[in-house]
Amino acid sequence: MISTRSFAKINLGLKIGPRRADGFHELRTVYQTLALHDVIRVATQPGSGIEIRCDAARVPCDESNTCYKTAQRVLMVAGSRCKMIIEIEKRLPVQGGMGAASSNAVATMLAMERLLGMQLAATEKLRIAAEVGSDVPLFLIGGTVLGIGRGEEVYPLPDLPRMHVVVVTPPLGVSTPTAFARWDELLAPEAALTASRAAGTMNEFSERVFTWLNDSFPQASAGADPASGVPAWSGDRAETPLLDLVRAGIENDFEGVVFPEYPELREVKEQLLRVGARYASLSGSGSTVYGLFGSEEEARRAAECMATAGHTVVATKTLMRSEYWKAIGAAS
Ligand code: C5P
Repeated sequence: MISTRSFAKINLGLKIGPRRADGFHELRTVYQTLALHDVIRVATQPGSGIEIRCDAARVPCDESNTCYKTAQRVLMVAGSRCKMIIEIEKRLPVQGGMGAASSNAVATMLAMERLLGMQLAATEKLRIAAEVGSDVPLFLIGGTVLGIGRGEEVYPLPDLPRMHVVVVTPPLGVSTPTAFARWDELLAPEAALTASRAAGTMNEFSERVFTWLNDSFPQASAGADPASGVPAWSGDRAETPLLDLVRAGIENDFEGVVFPEYPELREVKEQLLRVGARYASLSGSGSTVYGLFGSEEEARRAAECMATAGHTVVATKTLMRSEYWKAIGAAS
């Protein structure tokens, strides 16, 4: 049996563009992995087929599970015949906007590689990941990641220095397809998105990210390897590059459709700001709302306040790329 950790992500801004011919929405986002995780265990048995074991409510154990879809594809590429047992130990919220199901898919792929004693080509892994879901490929990179296209086209960004994060998981799941459909109904007509205006908003987001990259990581943009995981950040600035990034005005467009439907989520964001978050936002389409804090101590105290107010909350930290790859296979 092989055990892997399956880490969570948050979105540091998310810009939704128009619906494309394939039904997906063009988007721009910056993903950041966090130190919170599920555990995935894979094992083989004589026979054939894929069995998903998970006792958490709302996790399907059939072919619709992202781990099932991934295992099916990996077995096909490997030409392997055996019964695959995949156990999901759920710690992350389901439909929480933290990419848990997507991360489970990558953890399954990596565990299967080890179990079957084979190594898929990186391009093959990215292809399988993109087929399984738009949010899956980011977990093949980890750390700070730029997502474009439908979110599946991913680029490693220089790792951001550590940030302390308070994550609130309200007891409700938000369906991503429904949130996108609401965006189409409510906001796209209002914004009168002509093709050229939509392209303009998308470009604006990318420009903000690249301006931030230039300002915060001059060495990286001058040719240093941005995938090396070594921040070229001098550290003598008043604010961290992460705060510079979020303050550059990248917001999460999903807030515009999710908050009106679930006002309690807007309230959580406001509470996080009241207890000292430097920045707070919905992650993905929610329901997770996170706050960024300047120190571990500030985050711990804020989490205590939020817990006292009755929220399910955890204080954690961002996970850099090298840490992500080190921790993924560590014993849980
Ligand atoms: O790719 P994934 O399976 O995560 O997408 C789930 C659903 O979310 C899609 O079927 C689509 O309705 C919606 N979606 C979208 N635009 C994206 C990503 C997802 O409309 N960029």
